Amino acid sequence: MCGIVGYIGPRDTQEVLLDGLEKLEYRGYDSAGIAILADHHISVEKHRGELANLRNALAKHPLKGHIGIGHTRWATHGQPSDQNAHPHLGPEGKIAVVHNGIIENYQYLKDTYLQGHTFKSQTDTEVVAHLIEMFYDGDLFAAVQRTLAVVTGSYALVVMCVDDPDELIVTRKNSPLVIGLGEGENFIASDVPAMLAYTRRCIYLESGELARVYRDKVVVTDLAGNVQKNIVDEIEWDAQSAEKGGYPHFMIKEIYEQIATFQQVLSGRIHADHVELENIDLSKEEVERWDKIYIVACGTAYHAGLVGKTILEKTLRIPVFVEVASEFRYRDPMIDENTLVIVISQSGETADTLEGAREAKAAGAKVLAITNVVGSSIARESDMVVYLWAGPEISVASTKAYTSMLIALYLIGFYFGDLAGRVDLRKEQETLRALEKLPEQAAEILEQDRIQQIVDIAKEYVDVEDLFYIGRGMDWAVVQEGALKLKEISYIHAEAYAAGELKHGTLALISNKTPVISVALQEKTFDKTMSNTEEMLSRMMDENGDISGARVLVVVKEGHKPISDKIHHVIEIPDCPDFISPVLAAIPLQLIAYFTALERGCNIDKPRNLAKSVTVE
Ligand code: F6R
Repeated sequence: MCGIVGYIGPRDTQEVLLDGLEKLEYRGYDSAGIAILADHHISVEKHRGELANLRNALAKHPLKGHIGIGHTRWATHGQPSDQNAHPHLGPEGKIAVVHNGIIENYQYLKDTYLQGHTFKSQTDTEVVAHLIEMFYDGDLFAAVQRTLAVVTGSYALVVMCVDDPDELIVTRKNSPLVIGLGEGENFIASDVPAMLAYTRRCIYLESGELARVYRDKVVVTDLAGNVQKNIVDEIEWDAQSAEKGGYPHFMIKEIYEQIATFQQVLSGRIHADHVELENIDLSKEEVERWDKIYIVACGTAYHAGLVGKTILEKTLRIPVFVEVASEFRYRDPMIDENTLVIVISQSGETADTLEGAREAKAAGAKVLAITNVVGSSIARESDMVVYLWAGPEISVASTKAYTSMLIALYLIGFYFGDLAGRVDLRKEQETLRALEKLPEQAAEILEQDRIQQIVDIAKEYVDVEDLFYIGRGMDWAVVQEGALKLKEISYIHAEAYAAGELKHGTLALISNKTPVISVALQEKTFDKTMSNTEEMLSRMMDENGDISGARVLVVVKEGHKPISDKIHHVIEIPDCPDFISPVLAAIPLQLIAYFTALERGCNIDKPRNLAKSVTVE
């Protein structure tokens, strides 16, 4: 996620801004910049790459002044570049803006309000700077209000104006923003680490609020301009836990972030009855020509592909093959111009996946990338890209990127399925409405009492050596990711099996030492999965029918109780169509892995032997 800073006060503004940006580096970024206002002029310095590039440039010609804004950018619209870096200016350089989030209707705003405007960047943010400057008639606050009235999307914004050197205007909707309170000075940041060196008193701006930030006061208002009561909080975190938003690990922070990332990946892509995807320009004929799809990926992204197989076969009615990237390229797969190859990669830099994309292109296939990193190698070398907009994922174990990959696959499935005229439109409507409910349903799963249930279950796994996951169909795909998560961070051996396949050999391994996690979210196979779970239960019993030791846990939808009373734990996920249940099912499995690893005292964010980005083959 982008990082925002702002300052007004007597200190060396450049140093305060750079220091704040440095404290936000952990959030990940691809470029950085600052703007400082002095003598009726806004000076901007911004550079692609490390903050050091910006520092070096400023060392040569420092910017002086007592009011300024700064930004570290994580690209969403437009490649990482000097031009696309923030701050962005209005056409006459009167207004400077930094922004975190996504302006969903930026194209509409350009076409409707800003015809004839020339833009220096490809960003959605520059549109906001132009709009504010266009609406500005001497009242900055009113210009921001008028802009917010026509903008849709998520944002944290800080606005500075040449004619108003004593005030910064900030606002936010669904993106974080904090105002730090000093004596005769005030600070703005998207996250508290940026201001901890200066103050521990802060105002957390509510979504939909604005604030006028002066040196000696802060006035918070609602959108209509009605003044709100300032609620001042005391920051108690140390610098390290502040980086993690108060969570003990990035992994759990990122698990919680899914409430927002579900929203982000959907942002601006669902329109009443259909899906729109930017960066894709294909005709009906081209899509109709495809006779098969390959999904190529590694690890967690491969597991997303396994769910994608069911999604795309249902929406496009053509065969889909999912391949581990390191195998794919050496297999001489049957690819030609009638094949779509989808490569999935959070980082966009995984060497095996990148090589898979290259092979596929060389064989004449169209290559569509699903990735989180704008401008990554895989994004650049593919014909089309769907970005996850999940923000940087710092924990080695992938969580929020995985669920965003799943949601992206639903969007892609409906987009192409519609183009080819193969989608059941009633089903599409039902699924799109259900996808829109996912953020609030994720929040339900992450409520404290549900978390406590998982914390208690995880305690039972502390000394376990082997654990089995079972499921059928999409549930089988889901448990493969659940097992990988547990293996990589808790170091417990876990196996994921197609529930109906156990009896062909693996059942021999089941005893009262092997706990079982059974996921049963598909109506069609619910009874069958329950029978398979019972088969396992009976292998765990002693001669009196008692089970001592290992436990059985089932994950079901609300109201779908398992038949056997021997089952020890039932985790319920909120009701949703079976087709999209993998997204919600992922969360309890991530939590089981997290809390088990926590109980076992593992190095959760940096598990042994693993790296976040695997750039070797
Ligand atoms: C597991 C994990 C890895 C990655 C894999 C591919 O939690 O993160 O299995 O999914 O290394 O990485 P990307 O998606 O960056 O290509």
